[in-house]
Amino acid sequence: MVSRQGMWRVLTVLLLATLVLSGCQGHDSLNVLDPSGSAGQKQLDLIKWSFFLMCGVFAVVITIFIYVLIRFRKRKGIDVMPEQTHGSNTLEIIWTVIPIILLAVLAVPTVTYTFDLADMPREEDSIKVKVTGYQYWWEFQYEGMNIKTAQELHIPVGKKVHLEIHGKDVLHSFWVPALGGKTDVIPGRVNTMWLDAKKPGVYQGKCAELCGAGHALMDFKVIAEEQADFDKWVAQMQKPAVAQTASQKEGEKIFMQNCLGCHAGTNPRIIGPDLNKFGTRTTIAGILPHDEQNLKKWLKDPTSVKPGTLMPKIDYLEPKEMDALVDYLMNRK
Ligand code: CUA
Repeated sequence: MVSRQGMWRVLTVLLLATLVLSGCQGHDSLNVLDPSGSAGQKQLDLIKWSFFLMCGVFAVVITIFIYVLIRFRKRKGIDVMPEQTHGSNTLEIIWTVIPIILLAVLAVPTVTYTFDLADMPREEDSIKVKVTGYQYWWEFQYEGMNIKTAQELHIPVGKKVHLEIHGKDVLHSFWVPALGGKTDVIPGRVNTMWLDAKKPGVYQGKCAELCGAGHALMDFKVIAEEQADFDKWVAQMQKPAVAQTASQKEGEKIFMQNCLGCHAGTNPRIIGPDLNKFGTRTTIAGILPHDEQNLKKWLKDPTSVKPGTLMPKIDYLEPKEMDALVDYLMNRK
């Protein structure tokens, strides 16, 4: 028998858990229960299907349980043992066959959807993007468009996006909860998945595999736009960014001398993101709002922003040089 005190303890823990877990809601769009893509919708259908099926099983079992408790309880004056059914073939067959039927009912949509989701979209109605996971950032390379970017994946609404997923160092996992899917990123192996967005919006993405100190901050965004806006973005990304003012030209020189070793988009042994169109991004390092102050903070002490990052401290520049570098980067549009 649970004491009254014990019961209160359990209730307190449940209440606190409810409060804490309710904090998980509301982070942009990290919600599998409110999908905005067809892959996410299929996965939610499966979740609902198995959840309600299990609710049915629970209801039947609990009803029989309560019925037996009441019907066969010990009553005053009646002291007969109910009929024992141990070893009944009929019962054994019933409770073997029912789970088989339930599993079959679950298996049909699961297998169908698994094949649907593994079926890559046809080239003519999709775009193809090579995704590469690094500790702790994401690179996106658009096939046939000559676009390479990081942390922000722009996609056109209503079009399937074929993702070819590569890993550069350790295991990561590519996950956009609201659009669906979670695919392992494995060095030396290429995994594929597709997703689409049904309406414009910014969908939060996460690395879903513990990959080191900066794992929790390995965020990215999927930015879904109407086709016309996407085309505009593509055109802008394909235009070379040219330093305009004297300060930006000075910044470009500093960039060449200090940053290009790791951030050269053409270097196959690249260890930092291509910063060619850095000015068009909405975040710094995938997590900080995109402004000059945050960029300086990141440059001067990257590990204070993202623990474990390979980005070295750029804390040796004169304030004027730092201003020029930041001016240059923020205007690479
Ligand atoms: Cu990459 Cu966790």
